[in-house]
Amino acid sequence: MSFSPDGPPPVLRFKQGEAVAVDVTNKLDEASVVHWHGLRIPNGMDGVPYLTQYPIEAGERFRYAFTPPDAGTFWYHPHCNTLEQMARGLTGVLIVEEPEDPGFDSDLPLNIRDFRLGGDGQFISLFKPRSAARGGTLGTVSTVNWKVAPDIALQAGSLVRLRLAVTDVTRVGRYEIEGAEATVIAIDSNPLPMPLPARDIELSPGQRADVALRVPDRAEDAVRLVLKRKFDEKVIAQFLPRGASVRRDLRELVPLGPNPVPEPDLNNAEVMEFVFGWSPEGDAPQASICGTLGYTFWSINRKAWQGDVPGPLDPLATLKLGKTYVLRLRNETPNDHPIHLHGVSFQLLRSNKRKLAPLVTDTALLRSQETMDVALVADNPGDWAFHCHVIEHQKTGLAGFLRIED
Ligand code: C2O
Ligand code: CU
Ligand code: CU
Repeated sequence: MSFSPDGPPPVLRFKQGEAVAVDVTNKLDEASVVHWHGLRIPNGMDGVPYLTQYPIEAGERFRYAFTPPDAGTFWYHPHCNTLEQMARGLTGVLIVEEPEDPGFDSDLPLNIRDFRLGGDGQFISLFKPRSAARGGTLGTVSTVNWKVAPDIALQAGSLVRLRLAVTDVTRVGRYEIEGAEATVIAIDSNPLPMPLPARDIELSPGQRADVALRVPDRAEDAVRLVLKRKFDEKVIAQFLPRGASVRRDLRELVPLGPNPVPEPDLNNAEVMEFVFGWSPEGDAPQASICGTLGYTFWSINRKAWQGDVPGPLDPLATLKLGKTYVLRLRNETPNDHPIHLHGVSFQLLRSNKRKLAPLVTDTALLRSQETMDVALVADNPGDWAFHCHVIEHQKTGLAGFLRIED
């Protein structure tokens, strides 16, 4: 599969429980690796340099082979020189289909992200150090599938599965579907026990939402996908009903079954605390072929790691295979951090700041000064990257890894 340099990377479609192989040829003139965000696959296929494989040098090839255990909306991106490679466009949507068709008429991946472009349409500096030490550097142009506010024609009256994937390096946003009946059926590839109205869907970098949309019957009733930002909101895509209505009903959809994520055994859980904070004074960033931003601002448990530099490395914690853990995530910084764990999914338990839905996920937004407990079963052996998905934060220290061993 190849792709046009002006469009998003290809949407990959796999089937739940079916083995796949992806041959990646690195045609960049620098090293790279591909990480499959959200897939609970063997460690050697996870695509993190030095932790799980050597970087794929320019001109070289690596075969990723795995069987996706879960269905849903995922995505893929490099984990080497991660800020630059992602900021320039290497962020693709990955879909794992359920064996049973839930009954949609069509399926529409929406790769949502910004680019940092100047007035001349050329890339500008990919980050500002001042912002990297705070909330992160926002893009200047919001896009959906690499287009600014695209109009997308959909069959009138049909049921469409919108797959929102926020592949941006920085932006946390709230999304809303206006002008149609629409419900959120899954977050971060895990089906919700009950569909929720598609309003105020908060997604941080790396997160996904599957939305069931009933397209209106009449051509004049355009549907809007709205991004609500701090001080304004804007329409980032429109869906236009076309043709004679096929008059479907959201209630005709077969509810999605849960993914086979093991249930945490909370009565026998060990609690482990992780503190997200500033970096200790004088921690100099380490150079690597996977790039450095040249600064260290952040840390986990007082250790700063840039996520893709060679060892020697120590895990932040070692977990025993098969045991349940409660990770107590404590944010002592004035900024929000979407915390992402590779290789295992976790369940949100509680927060000192707000009520949490018991979502199963791979990425959770930890707000400023928040302490959040999440639970997981350590069922996948290996070294799993654990980091903030604001890539500037990751690359300036807010990264580490957990070891799961027998
Ligand atoms: Cu989507 Cu380690 O990342
Ligand atoms: Cu990941
Ligand atoms: Cu962060």
